[in-house]
Amino acid sequence: MADGAGSPEGDFGQQLTLLPGWREFVASATDRPMTRLTLDEYDALSKEEKYDYDEDRLDHHARLQVVATSTVRNTVTCGRRLTILNRGAISARRGLIVTGPANTGKTIALTQLGLTHELQDRRRHPGQDERIPVIYITVPPSATHRMIAAELARFLGLPVLRSSNATDLTEAVVGVCTKARTSLILVDEIHNISGTTRNGAEASDTLKYFSERIPATFAYAGIDIEACGLLAGLRGDQIAARFTSVATHSFPYNQEWKALVAQMEANLLLHQHKPGTLTRLDRFLHTRTGGMIGTLSHQIRGAAVDAILTGAEKITKAGLLAVDLDIASRRKRPGRPPAPHADQ
Ligand SMILES: Nc1ncnc2c1ncn2[C@@H]1O[C@H](COP(=O)(O)OP(=O)(O)O)[C@@H](O)[C@H]1O
Ligand SMILES: [Mg+2]
Repeated sequence: MADGAGSPEGDFGQQLTLLPGWREFVASATDRPMTRLTLDEYDALSKEEKYDYDEDRLDHHARLQVVATSTVRNTVTCGRRLTILNRGAISARRGLIVTGPANTGKTIALTQLGLTHELQDRRRHPGQDERIPVIYITVPPSATHRMIAAELARFLGLPVLRSSNATDLTEAVVGVCTKARTSLILVDEIHNISGTTRNGAEASDTLKYFSERIPATFAYAGIDIEACGLLAGLRGDQIAARFTSVATHSFPYNQEWKALVAQMEANLLLHQHKPGTLTRLDRFLHTRTGGMIGTLSHQIRGAAVDAILTGAEKITKAGLLAVDLDIASRRKRPGRPPAPHADQ
């Protein structure tokens, strides 16, 4: 979970929801970060070497360097605590829900929990390659119970045929998970399980059934779970009683925001960039991005890619302004602080 760890955005085509992709993500998280050349060292490179080095730098900026934000830290701490407590539980295992608006770092936090847990499991059980400690799936839109079972089966590489019914899939998944000692199951986009339809109710029951059959901790992430109906009614009460939640939100303009900008600036690999330029622009960046970490990351990395391609090799306010904002950020009126509790 350290700064510079791998990210779900990693290599192109890397699919976290399939076991090989997940394993690649875990492997890339332990890669050593790229070393920065001094300007003299860079100038001494041949044309081809420069080209390769620049390609690597573009990759570096395209790849997300995960910052240990409070969302990441809380999710990892809370999730780790639950996985340890649940080791001894025979029933009523407890789970975790990461909930908040879109683009606030829920998926990153959930996958960092998975990464931490997987590395810990490998440390405790070295050389046992047949173990699959962590599963990561995303819930498809309007999910049915069969779709949930199918997603789990697909992650594990089990055949999902048109003719496989939900019971067959469920039994196959439970069998593999038990054998592979799966101890953490991450379920993202949980808001796609409707709290008001029969399909949604069945999908939710299926997750509950899996959690009873597989001795694993379940961690969910989704958009505004409290509002989406999953926690409503009797079924919802049962989930609410067993789950702890970590809430994500846009950042107020505070110390953590400043540290976040500073860390993203420290991750840059540009030759003419004066450290401190972005930190000085932290209030401007906050207003421009509405305190959204996803928008901030896109702005800074976008400007870094431009800086390499144009040869400017530094990020300025003009460079940031040249990177288009996402539609959600443009909708907010400029100049209006997004969070009521901004500490200014
Ligand atoms: N801890 C973090 N460190 C660096 N960037 C982050 C972090 N969390 C989120 N981001 C940025 O925000 C974007 C959106 O995060 P994501 O987890 O996908 O949001 P959500 O799942 O809440 O929609 C990521 O693609 C990344 O650019
Ligand atoms: Mg997400």
